[in-house]
Amino acid sequence: MKLQLSALFLGLAAGMVSAQESNQTGPFYLHVTGKEGSTLDGYVGSCHAGAAIEGFCYAGGALPEGSTSFQYYFNYTGYTTVNDDEVGQLAWRLRYRDENGGDAYVEQVLGLQYLVNSNVAAPMFGLGYPYLSVGFDKGGKLFAYNYFDDATFTPGTNPLPNAEGAAYYHWHVCWQYFTGYYYQSIGWAQTTPPHNPTCEPVDITQVFPPS
Ligand SMILES: *[C@@H]1O[C@H](CO)[C@@H](O)[C@H](O)[C@H]1NC(C)=O
Ligand SMILES: *[C@@H]1O[C@H](CO)[C@@H](O)[C@H](O)[C@H]1NC(C)=O
Repeated sequence: MKLQLSALFLGLAAGMVSAQESNQTGPFYLHVTGKEGSTLDGYVGSCHAGAAIEGFCYAGGALPEGSTSFQYYFNYTGYTTVNDDEVGQLAWRLRYRDENGGDAYVEQVLGLQYLVNSNVAAPMFGLGYPYLSVGFDKGGKLFAYNYFDDATFTPGTNPLPNAEGAAYYHWHVCWQYFTGYYYQSIGWAQTTPPHNPTCEPVDITQVFPPS
């Protein structure tokens, strides 16, 4: 219990630092390509999944023109890196009209929604999800990050001070049910193979618009 609490406080402190001192890149798009026999090819777009909640959906084919639903941002602090790549958070801008009818947005950070009976979690935007630590490698591929691997744990030894973080690429496109919607959307398999039989393995690659 003590360990969990200190990890929680570390997370909160890191979140506060990033809100103040983070650098941001974007907007960019997220190209989805199937691998290991999957022929999927498309883009990630944010899809409505409730009031100020969006899924991380898959749209096959070419990038729709002019849609901000497909534009993402990356925030990082320089505090955490893996293989010399920045680790940070993926953000999306939820647009709305302010009280004067002007364009406004609020930035939402990608988190994971878990199921009790699956190893596939749905990446989603919406207030209240714990932030997912992600980054882009030198080939532009999106990875998720954790600073320990619980398969290496031993009783009573806190892994944190000496743990080595690693990048993971367990992205899939799956039919998923969340907040009352059934979408073909990005799935994160905590372990592989994924429990959900509709999941196909994919890479997600950062694409900057031509400047
Ligand atoms: C990302 O960084 C920018 C620039 O520092 C900041 O304005 C924005 O609020 C940050 N977004 C999040 C979600 O932390
Ligand atoms: C953030 O951006 C500023 C201005 O470009 C730069 O001086 C600083 O090194 C950047 N921080 C990180 C962590 O990359």
